[in-house]
Amino acid sequence: MKVLNLYYSATGNTEKVAKQIENAVLKAGHDVETIRVLKTIDLDLLAYDFIFAGSGVYAWLPGKPMLELLEKLREKYAQAKEIKPASPRRPGKKAVVYCTFGGGHTGVNEALPAVKYMGQLFDHLGYEIMSEWYIVGEFHGKLQHLSTGGRLGNIQGRPNEADLQEVFEKVVGILRV
Ligand SMILES: Cc1cc2nc3c(=O)[nH]c(=O)nc-3n(C[C@H](O)[C@H](O)[C@H](O)COP(=O)(O)O)c2cc1C
Repeated sequence: MKVLNLYYSATGNTEKVAKQIENAVLKAGHDVETIRVLKTIDLDLLAYDFIFAGSGVYAWLPGKPMLELLEKLREKYAQAKEIKPASPRRPGKKAVVYCTFGGGHTGVNEALPAVKYMGQLFDHLGYEIMSEWYIVGEFHGKLQHLSTGGRLGNIQGRPNEADLQEVFEKVVGILRV
């Protein structure tokens, strides 16, 4: 099975998760291509059977480089008529979409749009979205105070070892399906 591990990480939290996904996919015996999105690149999504796509949440949405990449790919696949009316499923094609988020103001609600947004390209292309993961990630930089004073309480150091272990187990589990 060909696996794509695509992620955007501005401050390193999602990168920890993406590395753990890579470890787990390899451990499960599959090939994986890990790509950190820095700028818009051309990607042949349909060449992959299983796609993990994740980003930190920024103002309720994925980070800008991920947004721009998904927009470009949407245009490309719409033009190529690979996005078909009613989005028929493509047998054997599956995806997991996830974010790391701080939820400082409204908790997980302010991360939902990011994951829903990212999932739409894959769903439109006919991938089955197997799962959506919301992984807590501390705030870095100017918003650090939200890591202790926000809706989720004290989230310093997240994602921590326990979070990453859970990611590992979930990847192994979902690849068994
Ligand atoms: C400028 C800024 C804006 C953020 N906006 C949100 C947000 O809208 N919702 C949320 O849940 N978390 C928000 N966060 C928290 C990040 O999503 C969280 O720390 C995430 O793990 C960062 O991922 P990264 O380090 O991979 O970029 C924000 C963080 C920063 C620094």
